[in-house]
Amino acid sequence: MNFSHDVFFNTRSVRKYTDQDIPIETVDEIIKMAGQAPSGLNKQPWLYTIVKNIELKEKIKKECEKIEIDYYKRIKPKLKEAFLNMNLNIKKKFLTEAPYLVCVFAKKDTPYFVESTWLSIAWFILAANSFGLSTLTYTPERMGFLNSLLDISSEYLPQVILPLGFGEKKGGKQRKATEDIIRYYE
Ligand SMILES: Cc1cc2nc3c(=O)[nH]c(=O)nc-3n(C[C@H](O)[C@H](O)[C@H](O)COP(=O)(O)O)c2cc1C
Repeated sequence: MNFSHDVFFNTRSVRKYTDQDIPIETVDEIIKMAGQAPSGLNKQPWLYTIVKNIELKEKIKKECEKIEIDYYKRIKPKLKEAFLNMNLNIKKKFLTEAPYLVCVFAKKDTPYFVESTWLSIAWFILAANSFGLSTLTYTPERMGFLNSLLDISSEYLPQVILPLGFGEKKGGKQRKATEDIIRYYE
């Protein structure tokens, strides 16, 4: 497979998916690629769970929307406005639309477990996009319910829910100019 330079420039968050399915082998391959990320002491503290079952996806959506309702009640008006400007609201249809939800956990007993797991998540996002697929870094305020729903021990801390599927990358989000994110010391 070709891992193109373009993948860094074309990767965008997708919040609307088609019902086109993905072979499980592709999902496995993406996770295999994500599992090649570096980690503190090479402990590889990440755990990837793949949810295909529609009843489970509906339960996850229901829990997430409950958490979002509670969150939106508490946030400052300015933040709420910023979310609305981004077309974000409490509805999370992508959680049942996407053929897969990949819920990622980090094992707590290792050094840099959060940093390492997020490196792996970044690799997952790039790997998925390199297959022409889309995903979204979805991080509801509380994710502890995933441990009981997916029967994952409390040694693992949920980090993110990544829907995985085909969806349009609308592309519009600009990035800072390169000169604005670099300082040189010569
Ligand atoms: C750590 C992190 C958490 C995020 N959490 C959410 C989230 O909970 N919901 C959401 O819709 N997008 C979330 N995003 C996606 C960002 O909003 C998105 O990456 C950013 O606006 C840039 O847009 P783009 O990815 O389409 O270029 C998150 C991204 C990161 C890196």
